Amino acid sequence: MSCCSEEYTLKEKIVEKLQDFRGRDRSDSYLIPALQIVQEEYGYLSRQHLDEVARLLSVPYARVTGVASFYQFFNFQPAGEYEIIICTGTACHVRGAGAVFDRFLEELGVEPEEPTEDGKFSVTDARCVGACSKAPVVIIEEKVYSHVAPDDVPDILADFGYSP
Ligand code: FES
Repeated sequence: MSCCSEEYTLKEKIVEKLQDFRGRDRSDSYLIPALQIVQEEYGYLSRQHLDEVARLLSVPYARVTGVASFYQFFNFQPAGEYEIIICTGTACHVRGAGAVFDRFLEELGVEPEEPTEDGKFSVTDARCVGACSKAPVVIIEEKVYSHVAPDDVPDILADFGYSP
């Protein structure tokens, strides 16, 4: 079953890439790369994107949503202009990344992955980003913050023009 209109809204170049997957044996095994192609283009997966992937690959819509929901790297909302990435790998976790993550959510008044009302910020986590000696680590727009404590969060946000 599908959710949306018959009109394709995916860009033509994306439709062409996905059509390459159609008709292959077990086309549902191409679901992950297909969803990655769409997410790379749009930054997230909307219901309509999922519907179009289902139709283009001739895979049931429920199967597409099941796969997309299973993997943490798929987003269902557009990220904010500044995506705040908090490493929650083991080294960062044991040094308090969870409290840093919660403080960002509290300061911005959002849930994980949910953009702020002005669309400027969103908060997400990542596995080890390869800077364990600097744990806990926060990355925003290629800028890396080291040894971050919850009380550093307002100053970090201020670097990107945020004021409560
Ligand atoms: S666990 Fe965070 S940088 Fe390695």
